[in-house]
Amino acid sequence: MRSYGFTDTLAAKHYATALRADIRDGLTRTPKSTAPTWFYDARGSELFEQITQLDEYPVWRAELGLFLLHADDIAVRTRARSLVELGSGSSNKTQLILEALGPAGLHYVPIDVSADALHQAGAQLAKDHPGIVIHAVRADFTAPLVLPELPDDGPRLIAFIGSTLSNFRRPARGPFLRGLRDMMRPEDFLLIGADLVKPVPEMLAAYDDGKGVTAAFDKNLLHVLNRELDADFDPDSFDHVAVWNSAEQHIEMRLRSRVEQRVKIRDLDLVVHFERGEEWVTESSAKFSTDALQAELSAAGLRTDQLWADEDAGFALMLTIRSTD
Ligand code: TRP
Repeated sequence: MRSYGFTDTLAAKHYATALRADIRDGLTRTPKSTAPTWFYDARGSELFEQITQLDEYPVWRAELGLFLLHADDIAVRTRARSLVELGSGSSNKTQLILEALGPAGLHYVPIDVSADALHQAGAQLAKDHPGIVIHAVRADFTAPLVLPELPDDGPRLIAFIGSTLSNFRRPARGPFLRGLRDMMRPEDFLLIGADLVKPVPEMLAAYDDGKGVTAAFDKNLLHVLNRELDADFDPDSFDHVAVWNSAEQHIEMRLRSRVEQRVKIRDLDLVVHFERGEEWVTESSAKFSTDALQAELSAAGLRTDQLWADEDAGFALMLTIRSTD
């Protein structure tokens, strides 16, 4: 039996409305700053997969290493029969958890903004694991989530891995975690993968690799805006830069305008002015200490059931459950 269902909650109109609102708001404020959601068209998702394989980007391998060691523990502790994954992308690493949980009859809900990524990963998973039931959902998980109907036959595991949590800025992170917690029943688990603070040069290299893949990923945003909003960004007139913001404890990816310029965004009826050297924050990526993250989780009503950390690689996996408050 092969089972793949797909729900699109990002109807063209919804996507366009959210994109327009964020870009208008983000490019008319000082400093300019937009949401990372818009990177991930088909090309952006593909470039992101390439980033995960770069020598400079240790996050992916560190988390994979922890999954190789602990996927069985996760399965034994949770006994989950449904796995919901936020920002599933290629679902690559998740396979280790699926296999440990036992894919036959398991309900897997990959959630991503990229329909292409969902279809590709879904086709592969259905082929490799006959018996798995896939309900792919195209959604922007920064907005309130509606899950598909799932059987009530055991605990659910929500996986939020790849340090994707780090792409939420601090004020938004609390309410977001609280929202996830409120979706959970008392028997459910939330698994978080988080990148830890490391020496600054290592952290910077992970967001500015020698081959320029991360730069191409960052500039892909300009191609998305040109296509989706009929804008006239010239990607060659921007440089990609990565900066460590120590007050916020996050890396910022920025696009720096090489010249003074005006860019037309026709669909917004907007002309955006850039000074020469002006920087626009396209993404932030928080780095955590396990203590600080546990404090944030606890403030959101989540308590750590188990923590696995790879101190050398600077990465932690936290399996959490609802606390009573
Ligand atoms: N959330 C991960 C991180 O911040 C993965 C990621 C998202 C990423 N966007 C990225 C990595 C851009 C490199 C570049 O590390």
